[in-house]
Amino acid sequence: MKPTRVVYVCQTCGVQAKKWLGRCPDCESWNSMVEEQIRPVSPVGDPQGRMAGAPASTAQRLVDVEIADTKRLVTGLDEFDRVVGGGIVPGSMVLLGGEPGIGKSTLLLQVAALVTRSIGTVLYASGEESEHQIKSRGERLGVGDAPLYLLAETCLERILEEVDRLSPSLLIVDSIQTVFSLKLSSAPGSISQIREAATQLLFCSKRRNIPTFLVGHVTKDGGLAGPKALEHIVDTVLYFEGERHHSHRMVRAVKNRFGAVSELGLFEMTGTGLEPVPNPSRMFLSERAENVPGSVVLCAVEGSRPILVEVQALVSSGAYGTARRMASGVDQARLSLLLAVLEKRAGLSVAADDVFVNIAGGLTVGEPAADLGVVAAVASSLRNRTVAGGTAMFGEVGLAGEVRGTPQASLRVKEAAQLGFARCVIPESNRASAADADGFDVVGVRTIEEALEVVLG
Ligand code: TYD
Ligand code: MG
Repeated sequence: MKPTRVVYVCQTCGVQAKKWLGRCPDCESWNSMVEEQIRPVSPVGDPQGRMAGAPASTAQRLVDVEIADTKRLVTGLDEFDRVVGGGIVPGSMVLLGGEPGIGKSTLLLQVAALVTRSIGTVLYASGEESEHQIKSRGERLGVGDAPLYLLAETCLERILEEVDRLSPSLLIVDSIQTVFSLKLSSAPGSISQIREAATQLLFCSKRRNIPTFLVGHVTKDGGLAGPKALEHIVDTVLYFEGERHHSHRMVRAVKNRFGAVSELGLFEMTGTGLEPVPNPSRMFLSERAENVPGSVVLCAVEGSRPILVEVQALVSSGAYGTARRMASGVDQARLSLLLAVLEKRAGLSVAADDVFVNIAGGLTVGEPAADLGVVAAVASSLRNRTVAGGTAMFGEVGLAGEVRGTPQASLRVKEAAQLGFARCVIPESNRASAADADGFDVVGVRTIEEALEVVLG
């Protein structure tokens, strides 16, 4: 066997260096290089470097490639099936990230129980909790009697042995950071171990067509702990969003090879596990105080689903000479831009004021379609005038103060009509695609001035 070699590996991006460096030359993070011992191992697969288990590879014509029967495993937990793109794809690898205590293990245990009952064996390998702890959580979730295999194990080779023995329909590894391979001598959680474990599990999952879920921890600043490379390896990356202090939880698909990205699944954490929320718009608007200045209903689209949310703005005179802008749920830089547009194109002066904008309920709206809602909420608070009840709106705002068309306009309008709104203010260029209905007005606007005239009068 070749001698082991010492290298220094950046724990943020995985770059290797021969000597220790205070700052990673690649990702420029400080103090992230850690000593790891590399013992050269034979490459996975055969000596020609073919992926283990892959059939002899000669190039094939695209037309000759047969599509295997990819029947998805539908768990019956609607919101979960929705985020993974309509059911779990056999042989896919899914990474579920999120803060500690947000509900990753809870969700996967529920999924495991549903799959065991309706589809087949599930192996739940946990390096974080003992079988006893998992069982007691299971009792709480009312799944204590599910025929589910638990394995409290952190050794990768042992987990793979159990997969060979049980041939499960679903494998869950909670969490990838605790798994270590005997082939490497570096500590569990180090970048080489995570990468090795994920790669081996990936080969196993593809070769045996077993869908695999990996739980991943996130770092303090919200990224997945360990290598970013993990996100490239897996087919789907799901993130738990939302605050621990709220009872609702959002699972978002940030990458999905088998479904729409930015698809959102909504759950509520109850005493007996995560309950799907069937009508998110209703939930997000449930605590809305009507006829209050600074409150506007926005038609957002998350993945393939329209969601109505409340944008709240508060403009108050800045006390310290330096105006503060705080945004939660919308991008801070975008807010600054919109305030500048309001100032220049609609003649509203907010330069000396503190401006706070918030999306009620903890949702983050990243799409530009939120612009018009933000602009209207700020103007409403500044002028201390309420937006007439029953009005919903959306539209992208350009630097010239123009209101630009957004995708999926008819979907948004339909959702507003369904929830009993009387009026929807939308970009004029989308006007043709949206239909009026009885007692429901669709108003097209070209500029923010026009929009403010319509909603604030
Ligand atoms: P958990 O799934 O252990 O989080 P993670 O694996 O992401 O670290 O979630 C634990 C939290 O959820 C904990 O604070 C307790 C709460 N919880 C409930 O409110 N109801 C339940 O039925 C369960 C199982 C947990
Ligand atoms: Mg956990």
